[in-house]
Amino acid sequence: MNTLVIVTHPNLEASRVNSAWLEELRKHNDITVHELYEAYPDENIDVAKEQALIEAHDRIIFQYPLYWYSSPMLLKKWFDSVLQYGWAYGPNGSKTAGKEFGAAISTYGSEASYQPSGSSRSTLAELLRPVEATTRFISGEYLPHFAVSDVSNLTDERLAQSTADYIKHIRAAQPVTVA
Ligand SMILES: Cc1cc2nc3c(=O)[nH]c(=O)nc-3n(C[C@H](O)[C@H](O)[C@H](O)COP(=O)(O)O)c2cc1C
Repeated sequence: MNTLVIVTHPNLEASRVNSAWLEELRKHNDITVHELYEAYPDENIDVAKEQALIEAHDRIIFQYPLYWYSSPMLLKKWFDSVLQYGWAYGPNGSKTAGKEFGAAISTYGSEASYQPSGSSRSTLAELLRPVEATTRFISGEYLPHFAVSDVSNLTDERLAQSTADYIKHIRAAQPVTVA
């Protein structure tokens, strides 16, 4: 499986979770890591380059910290610019068909807060519906998300465990089937 991880974090120097995951990802030759804010400090996305990267990979993971129940801004811009009519959808827009897409996120909120009865009144699967719906719109296969929550209480041991689990997830995740 040919995997691309698109990491979107505007301040990796201050990051604990995403930077630890990133450091581990870089040790694996079968995983291509693409850091959006490093590639585009001016936030001007090279659409042709991004489309070529997607075309060269079968499994694409969007890794980011949850920001206001969504993603950092540059990832939204990436979706808006890269997933073009005639490329990802529409006439002859089949370049993303059959590719697998998923999200890997970190959250300050606890697991309990991401329950229907919790403070957010939403699960992470629900908050990630735009990624899932977009994947389905562009004829991709949606992977279950990977998440680590309650990051302010994350011990070094739990961080190391989540990092190991993340690598396993990237390799083993199977698309979510729709009835
Ligand atoms: C602008 C901003 C918005 C955030 N919004 C949320 C949020 O909606 N829900 C949440 O659980 N955490 C939120 N956080 C916390 C981040 O998700 C958390 O700091 C991050 O996942 C930690 O990962 P890192 O160590 O890689 O930076 C927000 C942080 C920032 C800076």
